[in-house]
Amino acid sequence: MNEIISHLRKKLETFPRVPLSIVPTPCHRLNFLSDHFGVEVYCKRDDMTGYGFGGNKSRKLEFLVGEARQHRCDTLLTCGGVQSNFCRLTAAAGAVSGMSVHLLLGGKRSSRANGNVLLDELLSAEMHYVDSDNWAVWEEESEKITETLESQGKKVFRIPVGGSVPVGVAGYTAVFLEILTDQNRLGVDFDHIIHASGSGGTQAGLVVGKDLVNWPGRITGVSVAMKREEIEDKVYTLASETAGLLGGRARMDSVKVDGNHIGPAYAVRTERAERAIELFARKEGIFLDHVYTGKAAGALIDGLDKGLFKGQKVLFLHTGGLPELFANEESKQ
Ligand SMILES: Cc1ncc(COP(=O)(O)O)c(C=O)c1O
Repeated sequence: MNEIISHLRKKLETFPRVPLSIVPTPCHRLNFLSDHFGVEVYCKRDDMTGYGFGGNKSRKLEFLVGEARQHRCDTLLTCGGVQSNFCRLTAAAGAVSGMSVHLLLGGKRSSRANGNVLLDELLSAEMHYVDSDNWAVWEEESEKITETLESQGKKVFRIPVGGSVPVGVAGYTAVFLEILTDQNRLGVDFDHIIHASGSGGTQAGLVVGKDLVNWPGRITGVSVAMKREEIEDKVYTLASETAGLLGGRARMDSVKVDGNHIGPAYAVRTERAERAIELFARKEGIFLDHVYTGKAAGALIDGLDKGLFKGQKVLFLHTGGLPELFANEESKQ
C-alpha cells in the first residue's frame, strides 16, 4: 500500500496549491465518548485549519486558489447563503493570497453583522446580496457581477457553491492521506470515518483517497441537506471526476450516506444535534455548529447508543462551521 500512497501523494503535488491550512491538523482520542461507550472514538480537527476561523473549506481552497493563481486571476468570486462558511473562508483565502474577494450572499443582511458576515466584513470582502435561497439565482447574479468586474479590467476566478468541483475535491483526497499519517502516529487503524456532507465535495475527496489506495475502512457522510440517493449520486459523480484527474477510478459502493439526520430541513435545528453539541462541549471541551457538525455528531452518538460501532475504531471528522454559534436567528443560513 505504501507505494500506492506515495504515487497518489506525488500526483497531488503536481496541482498548483496555495498553503491555506496549517497541517497536519490535530487528531486525538475523544476520551469521554470512548470510555463511556466502550468504542475507540477519535476526532480529526479540521475546525483548526488555522486561517479565517478554520474549517473544511480551506482544504478545497488551497487547490482552487492555486488554480486561480495559475490563471493569473486577481479576484475571487463565490456565492452562498448569508452565513456561508465557504464564503468566509474564501474571504480569508483572498486576504492570505493578496486577491480581492467578492461574495454573492443569498438572503438578507441582518441589521447588525454577526457570525460569518461579521468576519466577511472584517476580512474586507465586497458583499452583494440577493434575496433568494435558489442556487441557480445565485449563479445568475454571480455571472452579472463577473461581467461588471471584467468590464473594469479585473481577472475573475469564479468558484461555484461550496467549492465542490474536482480541483477543490482533490483537497480532501490530500486530507485522506493526512489521516493515514495520523493513524501511523497514533498507532491506530481506523475502521470508519464519519463526517457532515453538504454539497458532497468533502466526502467525494475522501472516497477518492479510499479507492485509490484500496483502504478497507468505511466512510459515512451524514447528509445535512439532500436526500440520501441525491447526495450519493452527487458524491459519486464528483468522486469519479476527481479520481479521473488523479488517474484512477472511484467505486459507487464506497459512497455511503446516512440520510436520517437532516431534520425538517437544511440549517433547521434538531434535538439530537442540540444534545450532541452539549455533550461535545461539556464532556470533550469541543464546540460544534448546528448546521453541519452537530448533525453529524448526532448521527455518531445515535450509532454509539445503538451499538452500531462495536469493535470499530471510529474517526469523527470535525469540519468546522463554528462562527454559526455567534449568528443570531435573524441571519441564519
Ligand atoms: C462546517 C461545514 N461542514 C461540512 C460541510 C460540508 O462539506 P461539503 O459541502 O464538502 O459536503 C460544510 C459545507 O459548507 C461546512 O461549512
